Amino acid sequence: MRIDKLLSDMGLASRKESSAAARRGAITVNGTAVKDASRHIDPERDEVTYLGRRVEYRRYVYIMLNKPEGYVSATEDSRLPVVTELLSEEYRRMELFPVGRLDRDTVGLMLLTNNGPLAHKLLSPKHHVRKKYYFRCIEPLEEGVERRFADRITLADGYECLPAEIVLDPDRRGGVITLTEGKYHQIKRMIAACGSRVTFLERTVFGDISLDGTLARGEWRPLTDAEIASLGG
Ligand code: URA
Repeated sequence: MRIDKLLSDMGLASRKESSAAARRGAITVNGTAVKDASRHIDPERDEVTYLGRRVEYRRYVYIMLNKPEGYVSATEDSRLPVVTELLSEEYRRMELFPVGRLDRDTVGLMLLTNNGPLAHKLLSPKHHVRKKYYFRCIEPLEEGVERRFADRITLADGYECLPAEIVLDPDRRGGVITLTEGKYHQIKRMIAACGSRVTFLERTVFGDISLDGTLARGEWRPLTDAEIASLGG
C-alpha cells in the first residue's frame, strides 16, 4: 500500500498533504524519514509515523452515531443533509456509509462503516439481526396487540411480517418493538396496521449494540473492540 493511501485511509492527511509532509521529513518508515509519499509499505508490518506519531493501521472503521431528525441515511443527497456530514473531517475522508437506513424523521442508533462485506451480512434477511425501537403513536393500541405482533402483523400491501415483540407503555401510546427484519417504514406500517400512527421513532439497539446514552443527538464515537467483535467484524 502507498504511504499516502495509508494516511488518507486513516483520515490523517490528503494525498497532497502527505507528499508535502514527506518532503519536509515529517513521515518515517521503520525509523527512517522517507521523502516520497508514493512509496509502498506493508501497513501490517512496517512502522509508519506521521508528524511524530505512530500511525495505527485499521483496515475497517466502525462508528456509532446518534442520528438526529432531518438527516438522510446516505452518503450524499442533492437536497437534504446526510448523516456522514455529522462526522469530523478525518472520518469523512474514510468514506464510511450507513449500515441500513433509518427514515429522515427517525432518530437514534445508526452504525457507519467502510466494511462492505460485513454491512452486507448484517443487512441480509437471513441473518435476522435484532433491532429495538422506542416509538410513540397517536391512538392508544388495542388489547391483544402483543399477540398480533407475535403472530405476524399483515401490512396494508399484504406483506406478512416476521414474528415481532411489542412491550407497551402504561398509556398504550408507545413502547418498545423488537424486529428481526427491516422492511421499508416497517414500524410505521405495523402501527398503522394496528389502527394508529407513529409520531416518534428512535432505534435503541442493533444486534448486541445499544445506543450509548452519553451521546447527544448528532454525536458519534468509534465502536469499542467488544462492540466490533459482537458484529463479527
Ligand atoms: N421502521 C420505520 O418505520 N422507520 C424506520 O426508520 C425504521 C423502522
